[in-house]
Amino acid sequence: VAYDDINLRVPGPTPVPEQVALSGARPMVNHRGPEFAATVAEVLERLQPFFGIQSEPLLLTGSGTGAQEAAIVNMLSPGDEVLSVTAGVFGERFGAIAEAFGAEVTRVQGEWGKAISAETVAEAVRDNPAIKAVILTHNETSTGVTNDIAQLVAAIRREATGPQPVVLVDGVSSIGAIPFRMDEWDVDVAISGSQKAWMSPPGMAMVGVSERGWAAHAEARMPRFYWDFTKARKNGEKRTMPFTPAVGVVHAMQEALRLMNEEGPENIYTRHAAIGERVRTGLQALGLELFAEPTAASNTVTAVRTPEGIDTSTLIKALRQRRVVVANGQDWLKGSIFRIGHMGWVHERDIDALIVALEATLDESRLEQAV
Ligand SMILES: Cc1ncc(COP(=O)(O)O)c(C=O)c1O
Repeated sequence: VAYDDINLRVPGPTPVPEQVALSGARPMVNHRGPEFAATVAEVLERLQPFFGIQSEPLLLTGSGTGAQEAAIVNMLSPGDEVLSVTAGVFGERFGAIAEAFGAEVTRVQGEWGKAISAETVAEAVRDNPAIKAVILTHNETSTGVTNDIAQLVAAIRREATGPQPVVLVDGVSSIGAIPFRMDEWDVDVAISGSQKAWMSPPGMAMVGVSERGWAAHAEARMPRFYWDFTKARKNGEKRTMPFTPAVGVVHAMQEALRLMNEEGPENIYTRHAAIGERVRTGLQALGLELFAEPTAASNTVTAVRTPEGIDTSTLIKALRQRRVVVANGQDWLKGSIFRIGHMGWVHERDIDALIVALEATLDESRLEQAV
C-alpha cells in the first residue's frame, strides 16, 4: 500500500500536505542563524490569530504532554491547590502531571462524553477558595467532546473570591481548527501541538501565556529546566528556540502556517464545522451511535460506539485493509468505541471515503457473523 494512499484518520498525527512535508525536508540551517530567525518570526506571527492573543506564543520542542508539563511547572509551586476539571484521558493526564510535581489536586469529574457544565466548575471554585490554578481541556480527544471554554472561564472569574487563579487550557486537539480566543476568554496558558490541527509532523509545542500567567510564573517554584518559560521567552525574542529545536518540524510548520494563512482562520473553522457535521451524519446514516452528546460534539474528533457483536480491534484491522486508519478507545473505553480524527488537512472526499470503507467493513463483519 503506497503511503499516500492511506486515509490517516487517527486524531493525531494528522496528514501532512506534500508541500509541508517537502518544507520539512529542506536543508538544515544553523538554529542560531538568520535563516532560522526568519522562520521563527514568521511562525510566531502566523500563530497569533489562531491562539487569539496579542502577545507572542512560546515555541517548545516536544509533544503535547511536554506542553502540559511545561504549563504546570511554570505556573505552580509544590503544595499549591489546583482544580483539575476532567472528563477524559487527557484531562486526567494534565491533573496527574500537577500531582506528580507536588500540587494538591482536587479533581472535578465530569461525565465522559458530555461537556463540563459551568455550574459544576462554579461550585468547585466556591468550595475551594484557595486554588491557585484551574486546569481545563478545550477538546477532549478521548471522547470527542468540545468544552465551552469562554463559559467555564467566566464562571471561574465570577466565583473566585481570592486572587484570580490561573486558568490552564489544553487546546492540543482544537487550536488551529476550532475558534480559540485566549485574550477575550481570559485564559492564562493555552497549549497546542504541531501534529494536530497544524497539519505538520509531531515534535513542536506552542504555548500562549497571559500577563497573569507571567506573574504566576515569576512566583512558581516547581522544579523545571528544559521547559522553563523564561528561557523560551528570551529565545523567542531572539527569534530562536531553547536548546536544539526540531528544525525540520519548524520548517514544516512554516509552510503549513502559510497555507493556513492563505485559507484564513474563519474559513478553516467553517471547514472543520462542515467536516464534523459530515462525519456525524455519515456515521448515523450507517446506524452507528456517537459517543459524545450532540451539543458538545467535537469538530476535530468523533468517538463512535462499536456496534454490538463486533470486536473493535478486528474492525480497526479490517478498515486498515481498506486503507483507512482509525484509533481505538482509550482507558476504560478501549474496545467499546473507536475514534476518527478530522482536523488539519481534511476534506469532504476523505470523509466520504471513510464512510464508504466503514459501510463495507461493517457489512462484511455482519455477514461473517451470520455465517
Ligand atoms: C487533548 C490532548 N492533550 C494532550 C495530548 C498529548 O499530546 P502528545 O501525545 O503529543 O504528547 C493529546 C494527544 O493526543 C491530546 O489530544
